[in-house]
Amino acid sequence: AESNPLREPLLDWYGTHARDLPWRRADATPWGVLVSEIMLQQTPVARVLPVWAQWLARWPAPRDLAAEPPGEAVRAWGRLGYPRRALNLHACARAITADHGGEVPADHDTLRALPGIGEYTAAAVASFAFGGRHAVLDTNVRRVLARAVRGEEYPPKATTAAERALATRLLPTVDASTWGVAVMELGALVCTARAPRCADCPIAALCRWRLAGRPPHDGPARKG
Ligand code: ADE
Repeated sequence: AESNPLREPLLDWYGTHARDLPWRRADATPWGVLVSEIMLQQTPVARVLPVWAQWLARWPAPRDLAAEPPGEAVRAWGRLGYPRRALNLHACARAITADHGGEVPADHDTLRALPGIGEYTAAAVASFAFGGRHAVLDTNVRRVLARAVRGEEYPPKATTAAERALATRLLPTVDASTWGVAVMELGALVCTARAPRCADCPIAALCRWRLAGRPPHDGPARKG
C-alpha cells in the first residue's frame, strides 16, 4: 500500500476518542461481531447495545440460536425494527451450524454466501472479527472519504467502483481493520452528515473538502 498521510493522525485520534463498544473489545467473538453488524445496519448504537447483550447472553454461539425456532429470534429482536433481519440472522446461524461446524467463517466470500449477508456485512465481519484486509464501506466511511479525499460533501447515492478502489488503495498493509473502524468512528462522531465538527477533526488539515471551504453538495439535498 502507498503511504497514506491520513493514517497516523486518524489512528492516534481513534486511540484516544473511540467509544468503548462491546463488539469492539478483545473478548468479542466473531458471532458477536456478526450480530452487531446486522443490528447496527438500520438501528442506532444506543438502541442496539441492550438487545445485543441479551442476544449474546442467550445465544452465545450460532448453534444456540440455530436450535431455536425462528419466532424466538423475532421475539428477541424487540423493537430494533426491520425484523426480517432477525429471521436472516436465524437462517445464518443455521447455515453456519450445518455447513461450517458452528464457527463463523473468516473468509469474505464464504461470509458473503450466507443468508442475509451482503457485501458490507461480509467485509465488516472479515475485517473486524478476523483482521482481514477488506474495504468496509458504510455510509460513514463513504462520507469521510468523499470529503477528505475527493473534496465533496457527500458520496454518490450508491457505492461506486471508484469509491471501492479508493478505499482499497487506502488500506494499510498492517492492521487494516483498525484503520477501517477508525474511519467509521470519525464519520459517526465528528464528520457527521449535517453538522461536521471540523474544529475537532484530526485530519482537518488534510481534508480536501474543508480546504476548499466546505462547498455544498450540488443537486438535491441528501441525507448521507
Ligand atoms: N463498530 C464496528 N462496526 C460498527 C458499526 N456498524 N457501527 C458502530 N460501531 C461499529
